[in-house]
Amino acid sequence: MTVGTGHKGGRPKKVKKAVFPVAGLGTRFLPATKSLPKEMLPLVDKPVIQYVVEEAIASGIEKVIFVTGRGKDAIENHFDRSIELETLLEKRNQGSLLEVVQHISNMCEFWYVRQKEPLGLGHAILKARDIIGDDPFAVLLGDDVIHTDGTPGLRQLMDVYEERGKSVIALEEVPAESTSKYGVADPEWRDGPLCKIKGLVEKPTANPPSNMAVIGRYVLTPGVFDFLEKVRPDAKGEIQLTTGLNAFCAKEEMFGLLFTGRRYDTGDKLGFLKATVEYGLRNGEMGREFASFLRSIKY
Ligand code: UTP
Repeated sequence: MTVGTGHKGGRPKKVKKAVFPVAGLGTRFLPATKSLPKEMLPLVDKPVIQYVVEEAIASGIEKVIFVTGRGKDAIENHFDRSIELETLLEKRNQGSLLEVVQHISNMCEFWYVRQKEPLGLGHAILKARDIIGDDPFAVLLGDDVIHTDGTPGLRQLMDVYEERGKSVIALEEVPAESTSKYGVADPEWRDGPLCKIKGLVEKPTANPPSNMAVIGRYVLTPGVFDFLEKVRPDAKGEIQLTTGLNAFCAKEEMFGLLFTGRRYDTGDKLGFLKATVEYGLRNGEMGREFASFLRSIKY
């Protein structure tokens, strides 16, 4: 057995567990996020986090682990049953709404662990270590929403993992002037959308190693935890996931995948507005009317 790769010689283990770190403070979206988690902001009629959980389930995930923090109870309540609401909808014969509400808590198994202080994304993921054990796992950032017309974003990474048995992280090409906002991949080689990663640089201010930015989807082997444990806090006191992954990829092969689809950073005000407009336009019930409304706006 290869220790810590989540992979026993032959075929890699299936990825069944996904970690959703949702303990951040969402300062880019204040004051809206003072008491409301940014993951609960609605895109048309569903909170952002539900789109991301649905993507995970459509990809084959069976167990969702939320890493929560103070003020995030709304997320737990959203994925829990609401008996009073269900009883009321039943009494009122509102069967289709009842189904919508019940579907949310029945989607899969939900687990919660607490990050007592927001000490960084790497620190949040470490909180799930005991639940993950020796299994490969996915990480999805609850404010990065990915729309695809075909294979869900996470499934694209899982397909690469199942073929190679190594960690795979989602990448997106960004304009050169934006690389300083992201973790950026340093590829050893690139073959179409796939690359082998030899290093990662967090928010490079000069000479980015590529224009391939790390976005909020990862499939990781459990060996990563030992590297996260060793990451020292940065100047802001945070344990960065990118720093842990940079050390990890020097020891164990790691791949990057330029996923097919469109990503929206809904933790950012402009990203959220863009997502709202595009999801509104795609909506079967009101998309056409919304499009004609948008065409009528003069500004
Ligand atoms: P972000 O930096 O995008 O989220 O972290 P944030 O810190 O909530 O937002 P801003 O920058 O202040 O607006 C990426 C993800 O990691 C989680 C966040 O909830 C988000 O989903 N995170 C971040 C944690 O769970 N714990 C942390 O300590 C930091």
